[in-house]
Amino acid sequence: VFFSHPLLAKNLYGDSSLNLPVGVTHMSREVYSLHMIIFWICVVIAVVVFGVMFWSLVRYRKSKGARAAHFHENTWVELLWTAIPLIILVLMAIPATATLQKIYDTSEAEMDVMITGHQWRWHYEYLGQDVSFFSNLSTPPEQISGAEQKGENYLLEVDQPLVLPVDTKVRLLLTSNDVIHSWWVPQLAVKKDAIPGFVNENWTKIDEPGIYRGQCTELCGRLHGFMPITVKAVSKEDYQLWLSEQKQQAAEKAAGNEREWALADLMTQGESVYNTYCAACHMVNGQGIPPAFPALAGSLVASTAEGRATHIERVLYGKSGTAMAAFGSTLSAADIAAVITYERNAFGNNTGDIIQPAE
Ligand code: CUA
Repeated sequence: VFFSHPLLAKNLYGDSSLNLPVGVTHMSREVYSLHMIIFWICVVIAVVVFGVMFWSLVRYRKSKGARAAHFHENTWVELLWTAIPLIILVLMAIPATATLQKIYDTSEAEMDVMITGHQWRWHYEYLGQDVSFFSNLSTPPEQISGAEQKGENYLLEVDQPLVLPVDTKVRLLLTSNDVIHSWWVPQLAVKKDAIPGFVNENWTKIDEPGIYRGQCTELCGRLHGFMPITVKAVSKEDYQLWLSEQKQQAAEKAAGNEREWALADLMTQGESVYNTYCAACHMVNGQGIPPAFPALAGSLVASTAEGRATHIERVLYGKSGTAMAAFGSTLSAADIAAVITYERNAFGNNTGDIIQPAE
């Protein structure tokens, strides 16, 4: 009943099988084979042990005049029941050890992904690629109703899956930002603890493109049940496309941030220059202080190249016949750039222009 529950069956295994999934990696198939070998050995042991037990119950059930046998040790029986389990255990340990060795062998990986558990989401970092992101739940947990969660087709979806190329050995480095989490994707036969202050290793090499789902599998707090894992396996070509898109987005974002910071810095510096040198005659809204000083001409703060050039010229050399002084020798190039940037953006035009000192 537990394993055939729709939540488990559909979300994690993709089918309603009661058995371990065969999975989509070489390792998952090997783990499955090992599991089946050990399963059948256990079946044979169970049949023999319960067979002998039930046979004895029936064959030697109490009959009139029956007497229990009385004897002390029997060396041969004791040797046999020690040796047979030992042989069976060794037989099981040989393939189990071989499989474990392969699981631990992360050498010759073609790429590395750092997986960090957070309360309650996963962070993925493609090492050496400048690509990293959080994989957040698409719908915040508080917006998911109990009825929805119990629904047959209910799936915890994430905004960005972990994208991996097929036929590629990927080394997974697992750690945590806060408490112990565990990264588990049954179809990949990968289940590894993410421990703060410690880096665990595992690897995977996926055969087929597809979506493979998993779940945090270490009780990690209130929303432990709401940190799903989605792995999207794609062809090598699609992976390269995806990767370059991600890199471009990251570069654009970084450039955007830099521009924003530069503008914010210039605005601060510009405001101070403006208040010190310009505010006596020009109001911050661009109007002159009447009657002595007329309004700044609209063209000066308009977002045209000529307007900008004239504005810079006025600040540098002043305007003959007016009270506008030349600030070229008073202000540094950076101050002039800052104050013009400030005026152009603060006078309600919000041109977004950044004036470089070189101009
Ligand atoms: Cu993270 Cu449970």
